[in-house]
Amino acid sequence: MMGRLENKVALIVGAGSVGPGWGNGKACAVLFAREGAKVFAVDINAESGEETRSIIEEEGGVCSAYQADAVKFKDVTDMMAACVAEYGGIDVLHNNVGGSVPGGVVDMPEDVWDANIDLNLKSAFLCCKYAIPAMLDGGGGSIVNISSVAGMRYLGRDMISYHASKGGLMEFTRAIALKYAARGLRANTVCPGLMNTPLVTARIADQYGDGDAAKMIAARDAICPSGKMGDAWDVAYASLYLASDEAKYVNGTELVVDGGLTARCA
Ligand SMILES: NC(=O)c1ccc[n+]([C@@H]2O[C@H](COP(=O)([O-])OP(=O)(O)OC[C@H]3O[C@@H](n4cnc5c(N)ncnc54)[C@H](O)[C@@H]3O)[C@@H](O)[C@H]2O)c1
Repeated sequence: MMGRLENKVALIVGAGSVGPGWGNGKACAVLFAREGAKVFAVDINAESGEETRSIIEEEGGVCSAYQADAVKFKDVTDMMAACVAEYGGIDVLHNNVGGSVPGGVVDMPEDVWDANIDLNLKSAFLCCKYAIPAMLDGGGGSIVNISSVAGMRYLGRDMISYHASKGGLMEFTRAIALKYAARGLRANTVCPGLMNTPLVTARIADQYGDGDAAKMIAARDAICPSGKMGDAWDVAYASLYLASDEAKYVNGTELVVDGGLTARCA
């Protein structure tokens, strides 16, 4: 039986995970490989990218791990060239790199703002800038950018650069979608809500709480309409759909994966 991404090359940026378990990028990489994609797994953390590669290869899939910083121009141009040299092109670009930092508009230092905007927006800009020519050479493809419901709503915590950059990422994606719609290239965003990924234990519990991960998980669960956060596989399956030809007429839009969180008024 054909996989949903059979014969496609998927370049996944941020394909590792910040801690043990399943992050969004790692789950996407593994799921895409299970569906037949050749995965080019990029991560700033070489070990983390290698872990994703070994999981995929143990399952019989095809994957190369590549260490690069998606915010650095030279790393990004080299990564695109390496992917094309290895697999002959790029059909799917999945931009997963991102994260929040605490701070409101008045108290956030300028350098923190700049670094977070770079992480969430410049990474996607550089990866799209240098992947799109290769994708068009191959007749188009699909770009999936990982935004957040924080790009659409205030969630009760100050993280001003995250709101701005994830909101910006959606319009950035729509503009790409429209520019290249007639050339076979689609671009969409996935907007996860509160997800229970290693990020919560590794970073969010310290950044936004007192470091007690179990307490942070319980607090995040309680905010969700179902009483439970989603997980990395919810993001991965949504991304798989947008990456695949099943979504051939889905372009310039957002797929919200939040268990109904943003539909709620209070
Ligand atoms: N977990 C959530 O609750 C949640 C909710 C909404 C949106 N998101 C979004 O999901 C994405 C991340 O999810 P995740 O669970 O995979 O997180 P993660 O931190 O576990 O994985 C991200 C991976 O990106 C890598 N990375 C970081 N900076 C990089 C850089 N400059 N260049 C290359 N690689 C880099 C990290 O090493 C890590 O392996 C982010 O865009 C985040 O904003 C997460």
